[in-house]
Amino acid sequence: MPFKHSFYNLFMKKMVIRILVLFTVLLQFKMLTAQQRAIDKKVDSVLRLMTLEEKIGQLNQYNDDWRATGPVTVDNDKANQIRKGQVGSLLNVLGTERIKSWQMIAIQSRLKIPLLFGQDVIHGYKTTFPIPIAEAASWDLDAMELSARIAATEASAAGINWTFAPMVDIARDPRWGRVMEGAGEDTYLGSKIAFARVKGFQGNKLGDTNTVMACAKHFAAYGAAIGGRDYNSVDMSDRLLWEVYLPPFKAAVDAGVATFMNAFNDLNGVPATGNKYLQRDILKGKWGFKGFVVSDWGSVGEMINHGTAKNGYEAALSAITAGSDMDMESRCYKKNLVQLVKDKKVPVTLIDDAVKRILKKKFELGLFDDPFKFCNTGREQAALNNPAHAKAAREIAAKSIVLLKNSNNLLPLAKNLKTIAFIGPLVKPLKQNKGFWDIDIPGIDSNFIVSQWKGLQNKIGANTTLLYAKGCDIEGNNREGFAEAVEIAKQADVVILSIGERRDMSGEAKSRSNINIPGVQEDLLKELLATGKPVVVLINAGRPLVFNYTADNASAILYTWWLGSEAGNAIADVLFGDYNPSAKLPMSFPLSVGQIPIYYSHFNTGRPATSDDKHHYNSSYNDLSIFPKYEFGYGLSYTSFHYSNLQLSKKKMKIQDQVEVSVTISNTGKYDGEEIVQLYIRDKVGSIARPVKELKDFSKIKLNAGESKTIKFVINKEKLSFYNQQLQWVAEPGDFELTIGASSKDIRLKEEFELVK
Ligand code: NOJ
Repeated sequence: MPFKHSFYNLFMKKMVIRILVLFTVLLQFKMLTAQQRAIDKKVDSVLRLMTLEEKIGQLNQYNDDWRATGPVTVDNDKANQIRKGQVGSLLNVLGTERIKSWQMIAIQSRLKIPLLFGQDVIHGYKTTFPIPIAEAASWDLDAMELSARIAATEASAAGINWTFAPMVDIARDPRWGRVMEGAGEDTYLGSKIAFARVKGFQGNKLGDTNTVMACAKHFAAYGAAIGGRDYNSVDMSDRLLWEVYLPPFKAAVDAGVATFMNAFNDLNGVPATGNKYLQRDILKGKWGFKGFVVSDWGSVGEMINHGTAKNGYEAALSAITAGSDMDMESRCYKKNLVQLVKDKKVPVTLIDDAVKRILKKKFELGLFDDPFKFCNTGREQAALNNPAHAKAAREIAAKSIVLLKNSNNLLPLAKNLKTIAFIGPLVKPLKQNKGFWDIDIPGIDSNFIVSQWKGLQNKIGANTTLLYAKGCDIEGNNREGFAEAVEIAKQADVVILSIGERRDMSGEAKSRSNINIPGVQEDLLKELLATGKPVVVLINAGRPLVFNYTADNASAILYTWWLGSEAGNAIADVLFGDYNPSAKLPMSFPLSVGQIPIYYSHFNTGRPATSDDKHHYNSSYNDLSIFPKYEFGYGLSYTSFHYSNLQLSKKKMKIQDQVEVSVTISNTGKYDGEEIVQLYIRDKVGSIARPVKELKDFSKIKLNAGESKTIKFVINKEKLSFYNQQLQWVAEPGDFELTIGASSKDIRLKEEFELVK
């Protein structure tokens, strides 16, 4: 019976492999818990030696003088305080030499406890990757993990051991300048990206020389600041908090994030920094988070402005009680915690808990064994000049560019065009391409950044002439440069116009009420179009902008965000088809500011608006379309994709069961390309209202021209669950609509199934 034998052999082989895998996992787990126990012991032994002042010292974080990322407190006594063990961490120290010199002072303290060095390494260190919202448009989790990995490799070689990233705030208001720093409006996509970024920053394990601690911020709900005004209040139901705003933070915890940062905002009247519900009950309680929480810059002291603390004493009491372990820059802990303990307002066990959390990370990073382990000038040089990093930055930059429009298949451009006019205020600048929250390393000149001009020059052949005119500034009314721009446009086969925001128009403290393309840039486009030449517009920005004239009139549009140090090369790759654009918007683009907030996963309401034909007695504005200009998930390709053959493994699913979904995608165009296939679910009838659709899975697939692939998704209870009125996470039996789309609006296939008990 040879068949029987081979079946038996196969079975045995599989069993052996499974046992081996299980054994290895168990062994790793045992080793890890043994390591953790050993670290806990060390932490306890240090804690036993510490005075109360030294313990409180660990809870203070001060800014260095290189760059202020908040209102500075002048303090000329830092070195002295560090020497006395009164500081646990510094932020904004740049370069190994300077970091070394501070660390040297720290280890002169009585217990020789090393400092942590924190930095906003948001999208790269020297090699600058696309701003996070841009990377999110790639929907490419591996690429985002890689970009965080490279950022960590460079930063950790330059002495940094802690990044204040990723920002995982869901953001639905493009007026908020910080949308540039996150992953957009969607909870499912945002959670996947949060997980990938934490993994990227932290690598295999803290303590590897090329790793930094990640920091999930801003806990919580900062992205919902009212009116998109930075530092503003948030007023939100518990259901929305749990269902939409918290999951990316939970994903960061699941990925093993080492630290959290709380937030400037109050949540329903309680400042996040003094919010026990968020920090102790949810984060450290329900989620079992073992790392530590740092306040945002000065946010402990800002509780006085919020009006929830009378003075620094009350602010410190509120923050430490609520679970903020480290005080960034406000000095409220330094000035008040000793007294609070003496007054028996704060039990020393609370202080001990915070200190232990911080010391634990210092041990895990290996700083007690070698306080200088991240300061190696040789490694720094090698990491900062690694050509593989630039290559990765170029690839992810190309993956982040969204093709919004391509009339008459103008793009990709032929490589043998005779004359190209490259016009606009963003063609030649270098640093603009880096966007906000970049890192300007002193002594490194900006020439490693590939300008858009240089990128095009690198790409075109000897027979193509590239003409340049600035045309106008980003802001202001000056039209003097229009004539020159029109003149070169007339000589060209095609015009490429690069316009947008200034890079520092988005970011922290960069909220704007007007998010149109600034100045006379769209007027310049009008004049260029009047020449009759095809005009490709590149829009550079850190947020969704409003640009209806451009959208309706330009021949082609690429939304290039801020793409980082390889911007020029990546843009050229896309313009000439060496990379076929695949990105899709992670945020809805409004038609006008009046539509904000606008997001795809809204409720249906009792009077739903479903078309623009009728505005009376339904939920819409009388003077505005109900649709955004570009919806969540939108983005074109140089090729076309056909969706077919949607199949569900069953039409009735039991709660513990699952439905397998398969769909065939065919590349029906002329170019190889990638498509981001999106799966949305709608719970048709719930005990509370449910969104009209919610992203519950996606797949980015590569298809050669003419090729088809069948992809599979799995629907399980988790994907059908929501928070009911009692805030229980439940999947309710009933009918569900499943749609597969190329965007949240461009739905190609639809099916229904029922969840049964
Ligand atoms: C304030 C910002 O809100 C936070 O995100 C940042 O990490 C800190 N400043 C430190 O720069």
